Amino acid sequence: MELFGGIGAIRKALIRQNIPHRVIDYVEIDKNCVKSYNALYKANFKSKDIVGYHAPNENIDLLMHGSPCQDFSRVGQKKGGEKGSGTRSSLLFETIRIIEKMNMRPKVVLWENVKGVLDKNMRTSFFHYLREMERLGYESKYEILNAMDFGIPQKRERIFVVSILGKNNFDFNKLNKTKPKDISEFLEKDVSSVYEVRQESMLRFLRNDPKNKNFKGRLMIIDKFAYTISTKQVRVPNSGVIDLGNGKYRYLTERECFRLMGFDDEDFDKLRAIYHPRKGKLSSILYKQAGNSIVVNVLEGISYELYNR
Ligand SMILES: C[S@@+](CC[C@H](N)C(=O)[O-])C[C@H]1O[C@@H](n2cnc3c(N)ncnc32)[C@H](O)[C@@H]1O
Repeated sequence: MELFGGIGAIRKALIRQNIPHRVIDYVEIDKNCVKSYNALYKANFKSKDIVGYHAPNENIDLLMHGSPCQDFSRVGQKKGGEKGSGTRSSLLFETIRIIEKMNMRPKVVLWENVKGVLDKNMRTSFFHYLREMERLGYESKYEILNAMDFGIPQKRERIFVVSILGKNNFDFNKLNKTKPKDISEFLEKDVSSVYEVRQESMLRFLRNDPKNKNFKGRLMIIDKFAYTISTKQVRVPNSGVIDLGNGKYRYLTERECFRLMGFDDEDFDKLRAIYHPRKGKLSSILYKQAGNSIVVNVLEGISYELYNR
């Protein structure tokens, strides 16, 4: 069962790990995400709102929910996710409502979010979630995992909570960790000039021009790894830029962002075929879907530990 399903990183992970599965339902409000998901997995879901949603009466082994993170994120207004607050992040508690109403509760519930949920002013909601899971009969374990430890040259730290109905023997220490691959394997050659950084303020900052005084923010040059793939690249902070030499820089392409989220080129090609940006434009839809997703390789590590070991 995939709630806030996006482009289905968990489904991709189960496929890669050859873990037999059947998706009982997929809940996602964004029509473009649903279109992408259907194209990636040959499915036929319609968009739907989690608010008021009821799960079908079926036995569920795994419920995955990567609920919206904007209000917990350190890059944002930090409105938080308190139950009943009406923020997008508070939709997390819809999952609790859904599980509570189920006749048969899912055996495993997996939640992913930004590590900002542990910040002093945010963690009340996080611990509220854990208490609610306990009330529903789950034992939870959580850990901050970095994609860099799962073969992907992207510094992306996210919190993962594994909740198991009854006794929880899941051990984050047993996850198979591997060094990141060389970033050159993820970067495209001959990238169009459309991706070049053109904002004078950014360029001055990157070129260490003393006139960059007015530049606000954090702009990094990608060397061995990319920074967290976010939903937009033409802004600061982003996932870093590539130094092209001669004072020129470029943004990551949509394809590179998908690769750095652990998706295959064949997946990206299916989506590229759906969204044709106007000539000379970048695809905000594809960047958003990549930035909102979860690194497939991290979920592979977790699913291996849950089902294959
Ligand atoms: C952080 S993303 C999760 C992405 C997903 N884990 C993946 O693998 O791509 C959160 C998702 O929740 C969706 N969402 C936000 N509000 C929703 C609602 N009311 N009902 C259903 N989905 C919602 C967003 O459209 C977004 O795709």
